[in-house]
Amino acid sequence: MMAVYEATATAPVNIACIKYWGKRDTKLILPVNSSLSVTLNQDDLCATTTARADLAFERDRLWLNNKEEEIKAGGRLATCIAGMRSLRREFEKTDNSLPKIAEYHVHIASKNNFPTAAGLASSAAGFAALVSALAQLYKLPTTPSELSIIARQGSGSACRSLFGGYVAWEMGTKDDGSDSRAVQVAGREHWPEIHALICVVSDIKKGTSSTSGMQRTVETSPLLQHRTSNIVPERMTAISKAIKERDFPTFAQLTMADSNQFHAVCLDTEPPIFYMNDVSRAIIATIVEYNRAAVAAGGEVKAAYTYDAGPNAVIYTLKENVKEIIELVSHYLPHAVPFKDAYGLFAGTQPVGRLPAGFNEAVAKKFEAGAVKNLIHTSVGDGPQVLGPDQSLLDTKGQPL
Ligand code: DP6
Repeated sequence: MMAVYEATATAPVNIACIKYWGKRDTKLILPVNSSLSVTLNQDDLCATTTARADLAFERDRLWLNNKEEEIKAGGRLATCIAGMRSLRREFEKTDNSLPKIAEYHVHIASKNNFPTAAGLASSAAGFAALVSALAQLYKLPTTPSELSIIARQGSGSACRSLFGGYVAWEMGTKDDGSDSRAVQVAGREHWPEIHALICVVSDIKKGTSSTSGMQRTVETSPLLQHRTSNIVPERMTAISKAIKERDFPTFAQLTMADSNQFHAVCLDTEPPIFYMNDVSRAIIATIVEYNRAAVAAGGEVKAAYTYDAGPNAVIYTLKENVKEIIELVSHYLPHAVPFKDAYGLFAGTQPVGRLPAGFNEAVAKKFEAGAVKNLIHTSVGDGPQVLGPDQSLLDTKGQPL
């Protein structure tokens, strides 16, 4: 029987607390500042990718959710595939008994376990799964940090999806990008109580992509320089310390401050970029009030909001507060679809919009049902996983299943 060279891997979504925004090298994808994220649980959100190498394949091909994507010469996909192939070539040179599969073309199929329509950035999970599947196919002895250097060239934020838990992308200083890579600050098991609530905010207008938006910020925002030189380095140190000490209030305050500053540099861009909308701002107002009421009652900050290049909110909190926050969000943003209670908090019932004690209801207005399309409850999770051959996304001929 002919050997089949194939592997399947999954990779997680990550949401940054300290944001990556701006490149010093657009081809190698080298950032102007370091960043830090939480890896989300793959039971709730993940990308799965199968890669196969076969002498019979005539060219490299890739299908995303069963639709073929063009692998443009010199583009991001081609760069990642070439990077992995060159690692395999080096590896083959070290051991003559290895099959010369670096010379074969590959077929790659990828899919997400969450609807693309959810409006979540799926490119980070996608490129991390691509690189992980190829690393497994090629049996490479590489570390996740080394793989992150290749995933980074697919999409900057993808490099952080090579690890689980709490992950820093160290910006590096070298021109060739060899020190611009992800490192794990702490594993999931160090602080498993961190949960996340993703509020998928309806948005009909097509926004500015991260790639073009951040380039415009680099070219026109005088505030960005201040952020990268004076703000982010200290925040990276402070948030890493907060994670190591499991200090939620400090973690939360830094996360909110950095989301705010990222959106401030967007506003400082010429022409200005607006990613948040009225619903996003209402969620900020409710989380600010939630924290105020908690502190006024003698407690501590209990939740943090953060926003990427779009109106969706991600709310980080400790497990014990998730139910209360789902009730709170439901009060202002009654959902059109039933809440999918992945962690069994509501024992078969639905949230009714209960407000916590001491909460000032007037901080935001109530929206119509449907202003939030979907509420996804998830938690901190592990890094990429390798799946067995029975999980393959390719049929015997190397076509997507
Ligand atoms: C706001 O990684 O999507 O989500 O490197 O051009 O592919 P490219 O950009 P991308 O930018 C993500 C920006 C962000 C912040 C973050 O994830 O750190």
